[in-house]
Parts: sequence; structure tokens; C-alpha cells
Amino acid sequence: MKKLLVMVGWDMLRAVVTNVMLGANMNSKMPLKFGATLVELIRARHPILLVETHEGDRVIAAAEAVAVSPDIRRQRRVIAYTVSKGLHAPGQAGKPTAPDVALVEATKTPEPTIFVFFDLHHFLGSQGRPAEPTMVRAVQDAATAFRTGEVPHTLIIVSPALTLPADLEKEVTVVDLPLPTAGEIEGVLDEIVSANAASIVVDLSADDRQRLIQAAQGLTLGEAENAFARAIASDRRLDASDIALVLDEKRQTIRKSGLLEFITPEGTMNDVGGLENLKKWLEKRNGSWLPEAQRWSIPAPKGVLITGIPGCGKSLTATCMATLWGLPLLRLDVGRVFSGLVGSSEQNMRGALKLAEAVSPSILWIDEIEKGFGSSGSGDSGTSQRVFGTFLTWMQEKKNPVFVIATANKIDTLPPEFLRKGRFDEIFFVDLPTREERVHIWRIQLEKRLTAGSEATGDFEINKDSLGFLAEHTEGFSGAEIAEAAVSACFEAFSERRRLNEKDLRRAITNTVPLSVTQAEQIKGVRDWASQRAVAATSTSSRGDYSTSGSAAPADVNSWRGGRQIDFGD
Ligand SMILES: Nc1ncnc2c1ncn2[C@@H]1O[C@H](COP(=O)(O)OP(=O)(O)O)[C@@H](O)[C@H]1O
Ligand SMILES: [Mg+2]
Repeated sequence: MKKLLVMVGWDMLRAVVTNVMLGANMNSKMPLKFGATLVELIRARHPILLVETHEGDRVIAAAEAVAVSPDIRRQRRVIAYTVSKGLHAPGQAGKPTAPDVALVEATKTPEPTIFVFFDLHHFLGSQGRPAEPTMVRAVQDAATAFRTGEVPHTLIIVSPALTLPADLEKEVTVVDLPLPTAGEIEGVLDEIVSANAASIVVDLSADDRQRLIQAAQGLTLGEAENAFARAIASDRRLDASDIALVLDEKRQTIRKSGLLEFITPEGTMNDVGGLENLKKWLEKRNGSWLPEAQRWSIPAPKGVLITGIPGCGKSLTATCMATLWGLPLLRLDVGRVFSGLVGSSEQNMRGALKLAEAVSPSILWIDEIEKGFGSSGSGDSGTSQRVFGTFLTWMQEKKNPVFVIATANKIDTLPPEFLRKGRFDEIFFVDLPTREERVHIWRIQLEKRLTAGSEATGDFEINKDSLGFLAEHTEGFSGAEIAEAAVSACFEAFSERRRLNEKDLRRAITNTVPLSVTQAEQIKGVRDWASQRAVAATSTSSRGDYSTSGSAAPADVNSWRGGRQIDFGD
């Protein structure tokens, strides 16, 4: 293990990144984009850029690539700064210098230079410490000198976490460094393999190799390197079995970040009863992220917002659609974005979005989005506005295929910008299941319990009549209430160690007081909201005899259903 790690040090990583940044590898779309952004900003003489990352090496490498790019009229040098080394050529020695002294030194440099400053965040207010006024002033002075001076310089501040002091907000342009591309990760893999060629066996088909690289996407280069090294060290072999290992490493890394979680979907769309209209819509967009779709000149879908009555299958649909589309599913915990437990809220949001992009094509699921962004959500309103802004901008501008599926129980608390056309491709409304949908849900729930070989099987027959009976007697039940009734009926049978019968089910139904009884008023409210703004997830044919609007009497809740009725075909 030790031997392996020694061989894959800092210099190697930099060599890899530099190659990729310079376009040596054609797979490397993202750093090229990062490079292009740097070029643009440097040409426009933005004096100070801030890159929020732990991967300083990649920033240096990108700066080195940009410095000699033909797109920049006067070629630059790259000079790094750390507290311990002062100003120094990357990889070379230096002597300790205070940052304000170094900044003055920088302004006096005669050749056009890109300065990459590490450690500056310690002085500009990070982790609860206040910013030092002399340092804020030193940065402002440098900004003025860089912008207007004879010699064009640029300062890049590299920081893992920085909340900018207000005085600097206008001077500094924040640039996002995307997570490594497949091309960069491939570079690391190649280096590890060639550095250890004498002592390991590599047995990978071209396809395995791609999957191994893909498994590491979403990790930083350092993390990817560790994951590969560990995979090799376990048996001195690199083969298809290591894909799972790397994937597992990635899951753990993502879990540690605390905001995103990799969900392994268990069900398929057949586990969702009803909601045919929503299902059709999703089916039609299956594959839309493939290069093939470009031949139809269609834009990549942005995402869908699913609102509605609690317990009617919103979260269920979100997980099952990942199976339908065969894409990785990441759940974002919006509550934690604002919790303050894991860094600043905006940084959290940006980090999560970056990760979703790195593993794209992917599905980003934001469950109960109103808990984060609604007016009654957590966090102070200023912060929540900014984080919300970050998210909306990203939704609008994202280029990588990340499909957002947001679910919400209470939409009226969501800011109106959220619902504006062009944010989500569609807003769906999931209502209490109609009679036909309840037949479907009962079938799913009972088949789950009465599987072959189950002790409960034998008496109760799942057929058109029995399901019709159950659906008839569960008007006003949500899908979750039907699922619970099926379970509690099975408990009756179990307690007497016998088969399930119709009486058990009847009793379970009678004992349930559905939400639609206790919350009729709220349901009416949500439906009224939805009738203007959202499309019914239920298809016209499943809607049956239910009317499209109710009377003022709340007891009427069972005779109508909400949402605009648009059908997305068969
Ligand atoms: N349309 C449905 N089809 C099948 N099961 C459903 C349906 N709606 C709800 N359920 C059952 O209720 C549970 C909770 O539903 P969920 O999707 O979490 O509701 P919500 O709409 O509040 O997100 C599901 O796990 C499932 O067992
Ligand atoms: Mg839910």
C-alpha cells in the first residue's frame, strides 16, 4: 500500500492535469471550459478571481495552461503564493512572507503574471474569524493596480471555504472549478497503472475501463487516486471486480459530504399505481440525454416538479423513474443545506450541484423542496434567497444532463420565481387516487404481501371483483393509507397464524380515518392552487367520473380531483 502511494505523488497529478487542461485528451470537456472561462476573465482584465476548491494543484495546472494559451495576447507567468513559501514558481522553493507584503511585491512585478494565492482566506474571514482590515485593503489595492496598471496581472485566490468580506464582493469574480472529467480521471488511472506496471496485473476490457473511470467520476483527483490505489493494493490486480470497490468508495465520500446521498432505487414504474399521465411524460423523455437526441434538435430536459397530496406516490415516482431511465439517483437534503452543520449554505449548494454534474447524466432528486426554499423553511431569509438564486441560475444554465426531480407537499409557500415557465419543464399535481387508480394500487400492495409461498396466501384471491370492492370502499384514501391498510390486514392474519381473508381487509379499511376526512379543507386549498398551475398526474381515462372542480363544501372532496387535464398521449 505504502509503496503504491509513494509512486503517485503531487508531481504526477500535476503532470496529468496539465496534459488534460491543454487538451491532450479529447474527453476533457469540463476543464477546457474552466480554462476558457479563465481566458475570458483574464482578457477582460478581471483583477481578482476566486476559485473555491480543495484541489489547488488543478488550479495551478489550469493557470499554467492558460498562461501560454494563444488566446491571450501577452503570455503570462504563473507565480504561486503560500504563507510558508511566499511568492514562488510552482514546485520551487521560497521563503515565508506575510500576504500583504507579497501582494505589494506582486503589484511591482514587471512581467505579466497570473498569481495564484493560497492561504489568503485565513486573513479574509473564514471559519467565523473576522477579516483583517489591513489585508482587505491590501487586496483592494492590488485589485486597483492590476486593473489599471501598465502590466496586466491577475490574482487567483484559491480557498476551500471563503465568505467574502462585503468590501471585496464587487472586486472578486467567483469561478467554479468543476470536478475532474473522465479525461482527467483516466489520466490518473493510466499513471497509476504505468507506475506500478511491474508489480500488478491489469485485466480490463475497454468497456470495464470506461466503467471504472465512470465509477470514480464525482471524486476529486486525489480521492480518485486513493480509490484506485486501494483497489489495486487489495489483490495487486485491477479488473472488473474493482468497479464495485471504487463505486463504494465514491458512495462513502459522497455520504461524508452530508448533503447528497446516492440512492439505490428498488422499484420500477410498475410499482407505482395510477399517475399514468406523469409516467407517460417521463417515458417520452427517457434517453433524451443521449447524443442521439441531438438529431431531433430537442433540448435536454431540465426537470420536473411534482406537487400534491402527501402519501400519493411523489417520492415513490422519483425513485422508480431512476430505474426507468437507468441513471444514478442523488438525493439532496435541502434541510441540511441550511443547517449550518456542514459549511456555509451557498457553498453547500454549489458543491452539491457540482457533484451532480460530475456524475451526469444523472437525476438530482430534491425531496420536499419547500422545507428548504419555502417561506416557512429553515434558515434566515437572506441566506435562503441567495441559495435559492444559486439553484435557479444553475437550473437555467446547466449544460450537463442533470435532470432535477423536485417533490413538494406544500407549494403555496414556494417563491413564485420557482414556478415561472422555463424553470421546470412541467409541474405535475398528484391527487388522491381515483377509483381506477386505487384498483391499481391495491393490486400492487396486495401482490407485494401475497407473494408465492407466503403464509398469508390462499384464501383471498386478487381479481377484478375483489379489487373493485376494495377500491370502492377506499374512496378518499391516499396510496400510503391503502398500503398501510394492506399491512395491518396481514397483521390480523398473522396474529392468528392463518391466511389473509377479505374480512381482515374490510376491518383494516373501517379502522382507517383517511387524511382526506380530517384535512378536507387543506386538500381543497391545494387543488384550487393546482387547477391553475399544474397538470394532473392522473390520465383522463383514469379520472373517470370525477369532476374537475368542487363545491365550497369541504365534504365534497371525494367527488372531484385537481390539476389541469392535459394528456401526454398513449
Ligand atoms: N401511487 C401509488 N402506487 C403505489 N403505492 C403508493 C402510491 N402512492 C403511495 N404509495 C405507497 O405509499 C408510500 C408513501 O408514498 P410516497 O411516495 O412516499 O408519498 P409522497 O407523495 O408523500 O411522497 C409508498 O412507499 C407506497 O408504498
Ligand atoms: Mg414524499
